[in-house]
Amino acid sequence: MSVRLNLFAPEFRANPYPFFAELRRQPGLAQVDPLGFWAVSRYADVLHVLKNPQLFSSTGHRAPAEPEWLGRSSPFADSMVMVDPPQHTRLRSLVNRAFGPTALGRMEPRIRAYAQQAARELPLGRPVDFVESFALRVPAAVIGELLGLDPSLHSRFKRWADDINNTSSTPPDAHEWRAQIRSTYAEMEQYLKEVIAERRRSPREDMVSDLLASRVEGEALTDAELMGFLFLLLIAGLETTVHLLGHSALVLAERPEVFARLRADRSLIPRFVEEVLRYEPVAQTILRLTTAETELSGVRLPAGSHVMLLLGSACHDEAQFPNSDRFDLDRQGQQTMPFGYGIHFCLGAPLARLEARLALEALLDRCGGLVRDAAPVQWHASIVVRGPTVLPLTVLPG
Ligand code: HEM
Repeated sequence: MSVRLNLFAPEFRANPYPFFAELRRQPGLAQVDPLGFWAVSRYADVLHVLKNPQLFSSTGHRAPAEPEWLGRSSPFADSMVMVDPPQHTRLRSLVNRAFGPTALGRMEPRIRAYAQQAARELPLGRPVDFVESFALRVPAAVIGELLGLDPSLHSRFKRWADDINNTSSTPPDAHEWRAQIRSTYAEMEQYLKEVIAERRRSPREDMVSDLLASRVEGEALTDAELMGFLFLLLIAGLETTVHLLGHSALVLAERPEVFARLRADRSLIPRFVEEVLRYEPVAQTILRLTTAETELSGVRLPAGSHVMLLLGSACHDEAQFPNSDRFDLDRQGQQTMPFGYGIHFCLGAPLARLEARLALEALLDRCGGLVRDAAPVQWHASIVVRGPTVLPLTVLPG
């Protein structure tokens, strides 16, 4: 009999890691409630799935992201994260360059300027919500600029991203919440349609215009593919990086000795970011669907089985990371997977790392310490991402 894991249990949402550790100790695979998917908790098994996309497909596993109550098909269905080769290869090659080293090098001065401005405007010496006052600001500015979206909408991006991430997490009785999510899909789609039409009429120097003009083997993106990509970037690129900064601040507030080391030696920042990504993986779960009968961890999975990869668990697997539940700034050299692995490896990983490094540099320049407030941290309700949505902290002057 397999172990079951209730993804909606409040104690699991508050701290999933002890549950993951228990799953890894059990033989075989677990099943998750209420979806019935197979949960893969060990690093080696997650890697095996990600290395075999022909057997574990990214297509067709729409169930949680596209529940019946949504009453529509998800725009993500046409985005690169939910398609297999050859469509995936084509879509990815259309956008790869926009996220490569040359493009990032061009963006770096502007990202630094956003980070420094956000740090300058951060209130010191009194409790603030760190997410609202800092963590959100840099990624929202970057994604807005990348897509050429109106800066006045930055605060709206966050609500959009929250609502869409919550699609998979709404409890059955949350009628109002569901209505809000439905209207967010419509609002976003309407807005993005206008942006696409506008750029078609008068192209600018931004990604939407570039994407409209780009061709692979003479073929352009379809409107549905373009819309899927814009949805994906807004959601995948904003919320995740906000949570990475939120987790970073929480780790620093709880470990003043780590704060002091980073302040004394900024070259430690990239290593710190890697350990935050491992210790608190923002992307907690990804889904695949088996294309043929196969075996995983000794369990026979028929074709069409939903497989939920628990990245949060894989990144805490003792077999890969000794003392895995300890935050260790000196940890080095072990392959980790907060950005996934293989053909769908996160397109925005270099951008997220760059944003985090520049934001932390600006924060360390401005402030002398972070202190947790008595008010509780509020966590994102999603089962897909994990991060603080409200993080009460006092930022001490530097
Ligand atoms: C894919 C995590 C930031 C864009 C992924 C995947 C993971 C991930 C785990 C793989 C999904 C799968 O295999 O099904 C993260 C984390 C981030 C982050 C933890 C920040 C801390 C970003 C940013 C962008 C971005 C900043 C863009 C602005 C994408 C895209 C894909 C993706 C387009 C799909 C790639 C493909 O299917 O080939 N991300 N991401 N991500 N991410 Fe990220």
